Amino acid sequence: MHASGPVDPSQSKLFAPLVLGNLSLSHRIVLAPLTRNRASSSEAHKNTWVPNELNTLYYYQRATPGGLLISEATPISRRASGSLGVPGIYTLEQCQGWASITKAVHDKQGFIFCQLWHQGRAAHSRLTGLEPWSSSAVPIQTLHRAKGYDPAPFDTPHSMTYDEIQEVHQEYITAARNAIASGFDGVEVHACNGYLPDQFHHSNINVRMDEYSGSPEARCRFTIELAQKLCDAIGSDKVGVRLAPFGLYNETRGDDRRHQWTYLCSALSKLEVAYVHLIEPRFDEWRSEGEKLELLHRSDTKEEVSLRPYREAIRSPTKCIVAGGYHPGNCWEGVEKGEHDAVAFGRWFVSNPDLVERLRTGKPLYRYDRSLFYGPFDNNEIGYTVHLSREFADETDIGRAQMV
Ligand SMILES: Cc1cc2nc3c(=O)[nH]c(=O)nc-3n(C[C@H](O)[C@H](O)[C@H](O)COP(=O)(O)O)c2cc1C
Repeated sequence: MHASGPVDPSQSKLFAPLVLGNLSLSHRIVLAPLTRNRASSSEAHKNTWVPNELNTLYYYQRATPGGLLISEATPISRRASGSLGVPGIYTLEQCQGWASITKAVHDKQGFIFCQLWHQGRAAHSRLTGLEPWSSSAVPIQTLHRAKGYDPAPFDTPHSMTYDEIQEVHQEYITAARNAIASGFDGVEVHACNGYLPDQFHHSNINVRMDEYSGSPEARCRFTIELAQKLCDAIGSDKVGVRLAPFGLYNETRGDDRRHQWTYLCSALSKLEVAYVHLIEPRFDEWRSEGEKLELLHRSDTKEEVSLRPYREAIRSPTKCIVAGGYHPGNCWEGVEKGEHDAVAFGRWFVSNPDLVERLRTGKPLYRYDRSLFYGPFDNNEIGYTVHLSREFADETDIGRAQMV
């Protein structure tokens, strides 16, 4: 697949500098957060994974001078974590592992934010040894799947009390402080894809009877209070938040979408967080772009299927990063028109560690192999830091779902 963008891509605004929080980026191509399940199992702490040298090489390969990387989703506690091989940021050895990664990225004059992750009801006691917590005692209906385990029903989560909500907020703050102490340039709250903050956003999951539920504004309260506390703890210029107004993953539904997510974007922007990171409506984990868009257009709400209202709710100095289905044929225009400030790439960055240079020079992209996205594998290098099959991608690679 060849870049079909501007005649000289290097002159595009995608390669113009951008001030984001306290960082001066030299271009606007961002590594999207990507769970790759290739960290090492801790010998000291059960059900806990630690960043290793291979992970350091992976991030080093993708770092560029003045470029922003967002880390894979990083659990803030053992209860928050429900996936094999995913490195957290709540033990000393994890922080030491991350410190090697942030140093490697900084050695290349790059920047890196840590995506803070709490899986809530999507975690499973058979992997954490702990009961999952969520906004309400509403379980995921499909089966939990993990390598080496038979599919099993999800646990019915414990509905967090007011005090437990404050406790979890405190865990986020500790994790954010750990991230800054480990050399990260900031943190991104993973507030989409049906994980804990998103379990407050959606009324089919959040059926609480208190101030964290009952209206679109109340369902945003968990995320806004969390963002406020993180801004107070580490500085608003070091806080980003990722949202998916059109997300359906992990059985989220998105009613009152426009009202709720414009309110949320506007509230986060008033806190002057460094950025809000929005996922495009076309992107879906299981459906192709065509299927997802058709589903959204068919829905009863007749809402505009576009990020426009959400982007417009984000005001300076907060920047807007977009992600989901961007490729060399469609990544130039939105930044050029000032619709958003930066573009994050996920899958193309997996198979093209030098993606920034390929986009700058119009070189073709290598195809990715989705069977190698999620480890752990006997050989964790393949499809991660080493790419064996080197076919160029073509138009048929565009628009597919992430998981199939
Ligand atoms: C292998 C893989 C792992 C992912 N892990 C995460 C994650 O940890 N956190 C997150 O917010 N999104 C995650 N995503 C979603 C991506 O960040 C991104 O939004 C999605 O892939 C769409 O962008 P793309 O079309 O450029 O791939 C993941 C996607 C893939 C393919």
